[in-house]
Amino acid sequence: MTPKGQKLNIAPATGKLAILTPGMGAVATTFYAGVEAVKRGMAKPIGSYTQMGQLRLGKRTENRYKLVKDLVPLASLDQIVFGGWDIFPENAYEAASHAQVLEKSLLESLKEPLSKIKPMSAVFDREWVKRIDGPNVKTGKNKMDLADQLRADIRNFIKDNGCDRAVMVWCASTEVYTPGTSVHQSLKTFEEGLRNNDPGISPSQIYTYAALKERVPYANGSPNVSVELPCLQELALETGTPICGSDFKTGQTFLKTVVAPGLRNRQLGVAGWYSTNILGNRDGEVLDDPGSFKSKEVSKTGVLTDILSKTRYPDLYGDLHHVVRINYYPPRGDNKEGWDNIDIFGWLGYPMQIKINFLCRDSILAAPIVLDLALFMDLASRAKMRGIQEWLSFYLKAPLAKEGLPVEHDLSIQLLKLENTLRFFTNEELINHLGLTYYNIDEGEEA
Ligand SMILES: NC(=O)c1ccc[n+]([C@@H]2O[C@H](COP(=O)([O-])OP(=O)(O)OC[C@H]3O[C@@H](n4cnc5c(N)ncnc54)[C@H](O)[C@@H]3O)[C@@H](O)[C@H]2O)c1
Repeated sequence: MTPKGQKLNIAPATGKLAILTPGMGAVATTFYAGVEAVKRGMAKPIGSYTQMGQLRLGKRTENRYKLVKDLVPLASLDQIVFGGWDIFPENAYEAASHAQVLEKSLLESLKEPLSKIKPMSAVFDREWVKRIDGPNVKTGKNKMDLADQLRADIRNFIKDNGCDRAVMVWCASTEVYTPGTSVHQSLKTFEEGLRNNDPGISPSQIYTYAALKERVPYANGSPNVSVELPCLQELALETGTPICGSDFKTGQTFLKTVVAPGLRNRQLGVAGWYSTNILGNRDGEVLDDPGSFKSKEVSKTGVLTDILSKTRYPDLYGDLHHVVRINYYPPRGDNKEGWDNIDIFGWLGYPMQIKINFLCRDSILAAPIVLDLALFMDLASRAKMRGIQEWLSFYLKAPLAKEGLPVEHDLSIQLLKLENTLRFFTNEELINHLGLTYYNIDEGEEA
């Protein structure tokens, strides 16, 4: 039921859904290839909550569980059409071969569908991503003209591929960190800035603007500053389009938002948390630039500020030192290795240490998140949800909440919120896990 007590009316997921990715690098091509492999029965969609997750419905005694995809009306994998933009002209098969995430034999068997995904020319500016350059780039008389070209790309893609609707998930490089300026204060100032070529407007903000103008839900897989800006939030509300936070929560930060709440919930102190990574893919090369790394550092460190709050728990986290490093190390390719050293203290202040060594695969972890975000953002749009979708915080290092509200980083609370939102969508009872057993001796009753 909606807050006004009406039954929520979700439009059915009929027709084709375009999933458009600015960026057709390691993450995007691993995502396309994975979906194509699953469609052909060659693999299982492991890591995808929309495809494999189950939800409990009603009381525990009812023993009622449903697959998420059977509960809510999501687009099926067969209905998806992929499109994207990149500064390099390689098709998705060539780009995936270059990325070296997936085995050659798997890519060969998917050559036909992947070769058909060809990048549209990108909106790109080296001032914002310093370590790469490529030829497949748009030119225009100003930034508004570039936004108009992207809007035309979206419309043409939908028309040419017979799609019903589209979503956009940013899978392109991390830009140099630049917080909002006066040009971002309102939609009016931002649109003036687009016409005047304001240097504070980044390429990713131009894509976000184009998507929202076309009422295409927008999810930001990188830490680029875009959806948190007042001008773009205003546009999302004005056009009735869903947005969510930033930066896929995949490896080290994902584990951080599992472990940190556990320590805090047991009232254990943390004196320091030192996180370091080595990574050798193109993303690692881009993040080797201090400006791009700064964007990552902001989203990666933000999670502990909230979970291990210095102000609420001064005795436990008042002197917490949190350091995050990423080093570009080509031999490892996409196989990132992360180390965490956590200095904790317990009863009477006695110190202990935890070490986590995560040998992960970056794009393998990110691909199912792209799928889930795309399908859920499409669902939100069909449910007429607009603006910030806080229930999708589960997937993001830098989630968004309504103005004035703190964001939630604790993964288990994020999951509760996600699950209850799905129950809300389907008029199922919301679950608070109270499960209270109450026995009143005087009355002799049990509840
Ligand atoms: N893999 C993970 O676990 C993970 C987690 C969180 C965030 N991310 C973010 O996801 C993004 C993609 O990661 P990746 O490993 O695929 O990187 P990648 O370097 O392999 O791919 C990025 C692609 O974007 C293209 N590009 C850059 N600027 C562009 C623009 N303005 N328009 C269109 N294309 C552009 C590049 O040419 C490149 O092909 C990065 O921002 C990364 O930080 C990845």
